[in-house]
Amino acid sequence: MNALYSMLMEQGALPPCRCTVSFVSMIRLTKINKSYRIGQHALHVLRDVDLHIKAGEMVSIMGSSGSGKSTLLNILGILDQYDSGDYYLDETPIRALSERKAAMYRNRFIGFVFQSFNLLPFKNALENVAVPLYYQGVSRRKRNRIATSYLDRVGLADWAEHLPSEMSGGQKQRVAIARALVARPRVILADEPTGALDSETSYQIMQILEEVNQSGITVVVVTHEHDIAERTHRIIRLHDGRVQTGDPVPVRQ
Ligand SMILES: Nc1ncnc2c1ncn2[C@@H]1O[C@H](COP(=O)(O)OP(=O)(O)O)[C@@H](O)[C@H]1O
Ligand SMILES: [Mg+2]
Repeated sequence: MNALYSMLMEQGALPPCRCTVSFVSMIRLTKINKSYRIGQHALHVLRDVDLHIKAGEMVSIMGSSGSGKSTLLNILGILDQYDSGDYYLDETPIRALSERKAAMYRNRFIGFVFQSFNLLPFKNALENVAVPLYYQGVSRRKRNRIATSYLDRVGLADWAEHLPSEMSGGQKQRVAIARALVARPRVILADEPTGALDSETSYQIMQILEEVNQSGITVVVVTHEHDIAERTHRIIRLHDGRVQTGDPVPVRQ
């Protein structure tokens, strides 16, 4: 049993089994369409996207630049609206939610990891990890205790006081993963999390994301790189805003 898994178990955040892909659908999209309006023109970015990701799955989304991967991930993360179709998160229809409830769902369900880390530059590693707890109104003492345990789990216990500018890319991404986990999300959405990293560091980051998945959290990774995608259970390919059907399903043991 890995360390991250044990910790999440101790907190009572997880079901008592490991690496299980459930039959329950965590993410279900039906016929999602999304356009951006640019002046007089509409750029149709997602076309009738159907997608089904089960609770506990780890999937990758691949596609060339501009194929709509980030747009899709932002919709999954309830950061962006769509024009038509339906999105069910844990069987709840997102379209029907008020803005306040949508924000609540986002905070409760989703953790984000970005290519450029998106850390606050003048906050140290511990403070960055604690940010979501601050917004939840958790006391400073408790924030520090919880954030310290997550930093520890991503191997950065000794880096708590360091600013992002003093850390390597891989370390910054580990801080970002700890920050994404601290609010105990059910889903991690990672947009090219290894895009700015060398291959050895990318490997380490994927290992952490695999541990996160083994702890029961659904993981969706957008990537350009085949090596990265092949470490997930399933590759979803986007081409000109459409999900390509008939994809082979790689099975990772
Ligand atoms: N906010 C936006 N306004 C207008 N066009 C956008 C916006 N965001 C993305 N696009 C366009 O939508 C298309 C898909 O973008 P994106 O989802 O970022 O693709 P990917 O992540 O696969 O590179 C691109 O042509 C991009 O220029
Ligand atoms: Mg993108």
